[in-house]
Amino acid sequence: MKKKITIAIDGFSSTGKSTIAKQLAQKLGYIYVDTGAMYRAVTLFAMNQNLITATEFDIAGLEKELSRISLSFTFNSNFGFAEMYLNGVNVEKEIRTLEVSQLVSKVAAVSSVRKKLVLEQQAMGKNKGIVMDGRDIGTVVFPDAELKIFMVASANTRAQRRYKELIAKGDTVSYEEILQNVVERDHLDSTRKDSPLVRAEDAIEIDNSDLGFKEQFDKIYALVESLSSLN
Ligand code: DC
Repeated sequence: MKKKITIAIDGFSSTGKSTIAKQLAQKLGYIYVDTGAMYRAVTLFAMNQNLITATEFDIAGLEKELSRISLSFTFNSNFGFAEMYLNGVNVEKEIRTLEVSQLVSKVAAVSSVRKKLVLEQQAMGKNKGIVMDGRDIGTVVFPDAELKIFMVASANTRAQRRYKELIAKGDTVSYEEILQNVVERDHLDSTRKDSPLVRAEDAIEIDNSDLGFKEQFDKIYALVESLSSLN
């Protein structure tokens, strides 16, 4: 018999958190939640309502609309993971564009947005058996999570990964703009006032700049096994 635990995976953008988290959840039969997708969906909403552009952000306007934003995940068995829905519409593809990436850190810095999303995330994890990835999962959302992982990798390694992903999807982007976005988001995410990206004291740091997927996965899986064995 195994006991279900809560697994928090935090770290900088494009450190491969979601790849590890998805596979881990699949192998364990746990729920997987990509909290970055939720911040991205709120950003998309703000963009669609003309509340945010590259130069302006009507924070009060977004705050007024927050109760009209409904976020949900629906499992897609073709892909093996849950997709993000914004007010009933699948936005999985739209939230992954560079445009959204360039604005999301501003939206994620708004306390009322964080408050709404953190409450929703805590509700999703109330029965444990969950792998959640983000920036503040081990520090704010689930400070009592049994396992906390903090993933890091060099900015160049991360920009290369993101660049390859976007090019494979057919987006026209340059490596330089991706690198700039990665560096800017690191800065905004780690210096914002509310829930900045920091490693929880009890998190295990994994630097995967030169670590293959299998090595990382095996390392984390072994930790889960030791924590979830009933004693
Ligand atoms: O993981 P991602 O790159 O999809 O996240 C998008 C942005 O959302 C990221 O720049 C910071 C923000 N974010 C956050 O502030 N807190 C989280 N728990 C998850 C993401």
